[in-house]
Parts: sequence; structure tokens; C-alpha cells
Amino acid sequence: MFDHNKTEFSAALLYWYDQHRRHLPWREDPTAYHVWVSEIMLQQTRVEAVLGYYDRFMKACPDIRSLAAASEDTYMKLWEGLGYYSRVRHLHDAAVLLVDQYNANLPDTYAALRELPGIGDYTAAAIASIAFGEAVPAVDGNLLRIFARLTEYPSSIKDSAAKKAAFAWYQERIPKNRPGDFNQALMDIGATICLPHGAPECAHCPLADFCAAKKNGTWGSYPVMPEKKARRVENRTVLLIHDKVHILIDQRPEKGLLAGLYEFPNVEGHLSEEALPEALSALKLPIVSIRKAPDAKHIFTHLEWHMIGYDITVASLDAWQKAKKHAKFESDLEAADHINVPAAKQVLQSLLPVHFEKLSTEYAIPSAFAIYKNYIGKIS
Ligand code: ADE
Repeated sequence: MFDHNKTEFSAALLYWYDQHRRHLPWREDPTAYHVWVSEIMLQQTRVEAVLGYYDRFMKACPDIRSLAAASEDTYMKLWEGLGYYSRVRHLHDAAVLLVDQYNANLPDTYAALRELPGIGDYTAAAIASIAFGEAVPAVDGNLLRIFARLTEYPSSIKDSAAKKAAFAWYQERIPKNRPGDFNQALMDIGATICLPHGAPECAHCPLADFCAAKKNGTWGSYPVMPEKKARRVENRTVLLIHDKVHILIDQRPEKGLLAGLYEFPNVEGHLSEEALPEALSALKLPIVSIRKAPDAKHIFTHLEWHMIGYDITVASLDAWQKAKKHAKFESDLEAADHINVPAAKQVLQSLLPVHFEKLSTEYAIPSAFAIYKNYIGKIS
């Protein structure tokens, strides 16, 4: 049963792909640009979630030049909700570099692609194989999992040794004439048959005859995973400060978590409703009422935010902003010993009143705040 040679493995895989492949927009016209953008979007994101984003992105930035020319607000907005925003920053950086150095084309080899911002081993291999026909395996989580089950790979697939072993194993099987289809067939099997959670659908798998875990009934033990570290939990208080038509937002720092995105002002800890007026006093907001807004939880890779929210109605943000320009807020801040002065100063400088309608159309606000964005949509 395990004597099948390597050619038979790829033949079985490609035969299956021709019958069962998923029809996806970037597969219809697999230019290097289409493959590149789709692969970057698909990192850490499911195909179904990417589809709408991909179409919208291609309409706004149909080629490398238009992406290079797009403003930060434009490309961040196009990415809003997809998460892992450094991906789109790198995409843009690389587009600028390609216009400067490659006459707005992607280079056509794995090695040259690997040098571009945001393009790692996997993405370089995906573009090189799918768009340029280079026979190089694109080892992502799917290919690793499938490899681990096919071979009963005994160690953690999170170790770099596993990636190397998988790469070498697939390298021996990837056909020169259809390397992109070979990689994408494995991705499809990973997404529809050799599932990461729950039982794999071995009855439908074209690779069942080649699979050690199937033969031995051991799929539940593979891939071997390292022990999971617990995520850090951070409590935060989100402040929805608004008048009848504007709401205050601020921009996150250029580096770190959700870098450069807009957000509703929020502070560490769960502030009680009673503590709010004093915590906010240095901002001199003309507060009319304070109400509870929903609680929310957002899970990042290594961090969880447990958020409570307050709906804070103020008289007029227009008037407040004008006063802010003139008032001696800063010295008031220095005098207030109950707040974190540098943090509050930064908040004060960056708070920006925006019209409710523009909140959705012009500012990229990450999904971590989706519940609050919806909430504002309802009260506006
Ligand atoms: N996941 C990542 N890249 C993919 C592709 N090209 N097709 C399907 N799923 C994918």
C-alpha cells in the first residue's frame, strides 16, 4: 500500500484537483499581482472571509502602480476588518519598491520574491509556483498538517525542522509541469478534507492510499502540536464620547498592536461608572449623560481584550474642540495627580471628532471594536 511511487502521488492529487478544485476569483486569472494580493489576504484568514475583500481591493487597486499610489487611509480602509494590518503596510511598501526597481512588475523567481517586504517562504513559493510555474512547495499550515498525517511525523509541526522536512518531502513529489496546481490542490484538501479540527474526511481523500495516519487510524494524534501558552488577558474601558453628530476617535501609535489604525478612546482597566467623571475631568468635556454600552471581548493571537464600554453624551464636540485649542488643558493635566499625565496628554492631542457617517467610510477601525461601531451605528 505504501509502495506507490512519487509520480502516482502527484497524479492522484492533480486528478482530484481537476474534478474538485474550488473556483476562486484569483484562480480565474492568476497573474502574479492577483496571486500575491490573494495570498497575503489568505494568511491567517479563511477563504470565505477574503472573497469580498479581494474583489473590492482589485476594484480600488487593480495593479501594482495603483496600489503604490494609494494613500495610507485608502489601503488601511480596504483592509479594515481583515486584521493583521502589517500585511497591507508591507504590501504597499513592496508595491512602491516594485514601481521603483522592477518597472511595476513582480520578479519571477522564488529567490527574488523572497526578498520583498512581507513575502516569506510560503508566499514566495505560492506566487512562484502559481503565477510563474516554478516547482517549489508552498508549505503553509495546511501542507504541514497533511504532511504530518501522511508520514506520521513524530515531532511538533511548529518547529522549523518540521517545515524543512515537509518542504523536502513535497519537493520530491511536486511536478514540474503543474507546481501551482499541486500546491493549491493540497491547500484545498487541507480546507475541505484533511481538516484541522474534527475528523478528516478520509473517505473522500485522493491521498488516502498514501497516508500512514489513515492506514493506522492515528489521524487524531497528528499533527503533533506544542503545548499552548495561555493568552494574556487585558481589561480595557472603551469610551464612546459623542454629541448628536460627532464621535471622538483617536489613532493608535505607529508601532505595535493595530498600529496606525483608528479606535474609540480606551484605557487600561475596568473603570466604574462613578470613577468616570473624575478620570475624564482633565479633558473638560461638557458631559450630559453617561450610560453603560455593551461589553465585548476580542481575541488576538497572544492577547485577549475584555472590554467594558460607556456611552458618554456631551453637549457639543465642536465647541469643545475650539476650547481645547485655547484652554490651558496641559497645565490642568499637570495639576491632576490622579491620572497618568503623559498618557492623557497623548490622548488629548490625538482625539479627533468625526461625523458619524464618516466613521464608516473614511476611518479604518479594527474588528476589535466592531461591537462599538455597530452600537454607534444604532444610536446615530
Ligand atoms: N489559501 C492560501 N492560498 C490559497 C489558494 N491559492 N487557494 C486556496 N486556498 C488558499
